[in-house]
Amino acid sequence: MHIKKSGILALAISSLAAPALAQPVQPKVLTIQADKPIASVPSTMWGIFFEDINLGADGGIYAELVKNRSFEFRQPLMGWKRLGKPMEGDLLVLNRTDNTSNPRFIRIKRSLADTSTWVLSNEGFRGMGIKKDLRYDFSLLYRAEQAGIKLKFELRDSSNHLLGEGHLTPETPDGQWHKQSVSFQTQAGALRAHLDIWAEGAGTLDLDMLSLFPADTWKGRPGGMRADMIQMLADLKPGFIRFPGGCIVEGYDLSTRYQWKKTIGPVEDRQLIINRWNNEFAHRPTPDYFQTFGLGFFEYFQLAEDIGAEPLPILNCGMACQFNSAELVPIDELDPYVQDALDLIEFANGPADSPWGKIRASMGHPAPFHLKMLGVGNENWGPQYLERLAIFEKALHSRYPDLHIVASSGTDPNGERFDLLNTGLRKMNINLIDEHYYRPPSWFFENAGRYDHYDRQGPKIFAGEYAAQSKAIASPDNKNTWETALAEAAFMTGLERNAGVVSLASYAPLFAHVDGWQWTPDLIWVDNLHVYGTPNYYIQKLYSTNKGTQVLPLTEQEKALSGQDGYFASAVRDDTKHELIIKIVNHTNEQRPVTFALKGVKKVQTTAKQITLNGDLHTPEETTIKASAKKVDAQLAPNSFNVIKIKLL
Ligand code: AHR
Repeated sequence: MHIKKSGILALAISSLAAPALAQPVQPKVLTIQADKPIASVPSTMWGIFFEDINLGADGGIYAELVKNRSFEFRQPLMGWKRLGKPMEGDLLVLNRTDNTSNPRFIRIKRSLADTSTWVLSNEGFRGMGIKKDLRYDFSLLYRAEQAGIKLKFELRDSSNHLLGEGHLTPETPDGQWHKQSVSFQTQAGALRAHLDIWAEGAGTLDLDMLSLFPADTWKGRPGGMRADMIQMLADLKPGFIRFPGGCIVEGYDLSTRYQWKKTIGPVEDRQLIINRWNNEFAHRPTPDYFQTFGLGFFEYFQLAEDIGAEPLPILNCGMACQFNSAELVPIDELDPYVQDALDLIEFANGPADSPWGKIRASMGHPAPFHLKMLGVGNENWGPQYLERLAIFEKALHSRYPDLHIVASSGTDPNGERFDLLNTGLRKMNINLIDEHYYRPPSWFFENAGRYDHYDRQGPKIFAGEYAAQSKAIASPDNKNTWETALAEAAFMTGLERNAGVVSLASYAPLFAHVDGWQWTPDLIWVDNLHVYGTPNYYIQKLYSTNKGTQVLPLTEQEKALSGQDGYFASAVRDDTKHELIIKIVNHTNEQRPVTFALKGVKKVQTTAKQITLNGDLHTPEETTIKASAKKVDAQLAPNSFNVIKIKLL
């Protein structure tokens, strides 16, 4: 694994904080009972949580390069700029009444007498990342009564150098809307390019859905996703993907909640809404942030399938964000919300001839998506939540008894709100409780044993959103420091040790664009052409790619190792790969020797792998150490996370 340290990564990662837990160096002997597993590691254990925040979808994984392609932003020409010499009335913004989901379009009017040039330029999402020698696919919807106007497209860099150009003449000027595409090759690339559209000739031409995609999308799908960003997710081999949020599920108010049915079918019919992160933080306003839903539920399910992750959609429970409008759907009006959930299951799993399964099939996926889990509500709380959840639970389980329902425990992992929900959800015997913790690194170190005494018979836990905050919760000054990554690594030993009760875990948020973020820290930082994994990303990756199948007892004097002398550790066995895998954090400023005494092991390969990540490296480094069936000795660098892999023979 290699982490590039560049200017942009430096933006996301600040200097390393060294904890002050100096202890006398002493050999530590830890015992691993390899033949007495205490739990199975669920295949879902380490997953990802995707939300359209920080330009995560539009301007992020959704590879569309044109911003406001359908002129449906509040300001219809936001992102667009007239160049050349405009004439009065040669560009009009109009609405059609027969299309309520995408009413606006533009009209170009030119006469033969016009001496002006007609150029409309799109700035992209913080510019357009354009690659050299790549095919770009431009498409639009047009309507013309007669032939007359031709279009030319030019991609130009910030110094106005031409990167590539294409031409399009509307083929069917019959007064009806048509889709037409043209592809062209670039001769040069740029990080922040723009697209100039020239209209030449005379006549009237209506345009909508002006769209530009690179050819090298994930799996080469037209209108698809940014391959480099998705590859970072695929590399994690995530057990699940939670989507689409997060707070965007709730909406500022109910009118801006996420409604999955409006995100499927032809993209031009998907009704755009404001992204709640547009104006959520006064200190990080993003007035051009909208949800076009070019990525919708079909694409999320398909992504889950592509990367081998279980889909975990979260639906609105009839409550808007309680930090914002706190709008509530009256209980006797909740039916449409419940019906949305029932219909989603049919959309995902129903036969290709069922009403919703048919739509999935028409979108190119007749086979089911095998949805097994569904979240009701994001960070909702209070008796109103429990009351609404109970209605969903009854309706969903009476029709789909095996469905795993994920319920919210609110915004915090403790306190009155948490206690009320935790008690209520356990009484309801809900399948999974979603706990969120955005806390300082110290909290993660101190709470590594959080689940050691959780009830094994009750609901399973989903650590649905967590990230150590270097400054304060959601502070714009938070950085992905090594201290935060190490704190998460330490905490995750506790999750792994308690895989018998914790079934899923995901860091949050997942992506951030260096020029368009609202929330820090984030797992993966991107610009228009590059992706950068933070140290926190590599911690996640070391866990998820070394998941194992069985949790083993790892103890010092019969006690789990959860912070004693600055050590945190857990162990798993992988019965498929025949490996014993130890994860251990040394949270001290000293190099420490450690001996793992192995019990119940017959024979091992005499060389084992030690993978180390620390604040000096930012890059996991692999070394070879000696191993026997009785013991393995290792040196742990100061403030390091180590994965030790022993081959069982
Ligand atoms: O991850 C960012 C936000 O944090 C999520 O949208 C929300 O669920 C939480 O408050």
